[in-house]
Amino acid sequence: MSSSTARALANLALVKYFGKRDVTLNLPAAGSLSLTLEPLSTTTAVTFDTSLEWDCIQLDGEDAPTGFAERVIRFLDLVRTTVDTQCFARVTTQNSFPTAAGLASSAAGFAALAVAATTALGQQLTPRQLSVLARQGSGSACRSISGGISVWQAGKRADGEDSFATAIAGPDWWDLRVVIGITDAGPKSIGSTAAMEQTRRTSPFYGQWIETVNRDLVAAGEAVKSKRFEQLGAIAEHNALAMHAAALAARPAIVLWNGATVEALKRIQQLRADGIPAYFTCDAGPQPKALCLPADEDDVALTLADVPGVQSTIRCRIGGAPTLV
Ligand code: PMV
Repeated sequence: MSSSTARALANLALVKYFGKRDVTLNLPAAGSLSLTLEPLSTTTAVTFDTSLEWDCIQLDGEDAPTGFAERVIRFLDLVRTTVDTQCFARVTTQNSFPTAAGLASSAAGFAALAVAATTALGQQLTPRQLSVLARQGSGSACRSISGGISVWQAGKRADGEDSFATAIAGPDWWDLRVVIGITDAGPKSIGSTAAMEQTRRTSPFYGQWIETVNRDLVAAGEAVKSKRFEQLGAIAEHNALAMHAAALAARPAIVLWNGATVEALKRIQQLRADGIPAYFTCDAGPQPKALCLPADEDDVALTLADVPGVQSTIRCRIGGAPTLV
């Protein structure tokens, strides 16, 4: 028997990954840039045990739903192939935040699983190898491996070996805050892969969206390096709205927001008009997220909490790479 437990953090893309050049390997059509979010964590324990007759997957204290368990088993198969073992595993995974509600639970989940499973099998992978591996579980998970402020390069190779994330800044480079409004803690209406594929196939704006990402990625990287907050925030807000615009124009339309999400966007824009630099972003779910500076975090959290339909808020700062527990 061999065990290992790892803790990994979720991440929030300011320049989004939304479109694949290869669905099986999770290869993106363009790069992306994210902040790693402390304290949104997943802790995963993996035990390879020769007495098991199949993989046993638990999520938040219960047997995992079929779809989730199948993704985990596919990922374990990938890890098993690289070390040439057929040993089954017991996987217990615990999220510190709502699962599958557009809070990047799959990013933290597959980053923690990649670290715990390979460590349990005695493999010592480099951060780049871990990022390539985690990417195959869930694209955005490759950015949770590098931590801090990360850039995932799209890469060009068909085998995806050049498609991994690296940190362009550590967790202490810049004290930025993210406030998340929870408007619906239930599962997402559409999975991110389905949403991306439908947008790629049918949205007339998909091509422009990818061009926008390529431009935003360069500008956002420069804003991080020179710590220009208003530049970074403006890029992030525009990038999120462009992603949603492309999805809205798909057939059938992909509407990922609810009324509270839209109201939150307006309140954050009003906050800015009142002199507080805060910027809206949102992923493939209805939770509004606000990027701000530490001095404004209380005002931003109060503003989001005051939006009808926002049930609670979560405050995050930038965290690091996964750790073994
Ligand atoms: O890693 P996935 O397949 O769940 O994709 C995540 C996609 C977005 O959250 C919408 C954007 C991003 O870059 O994280």
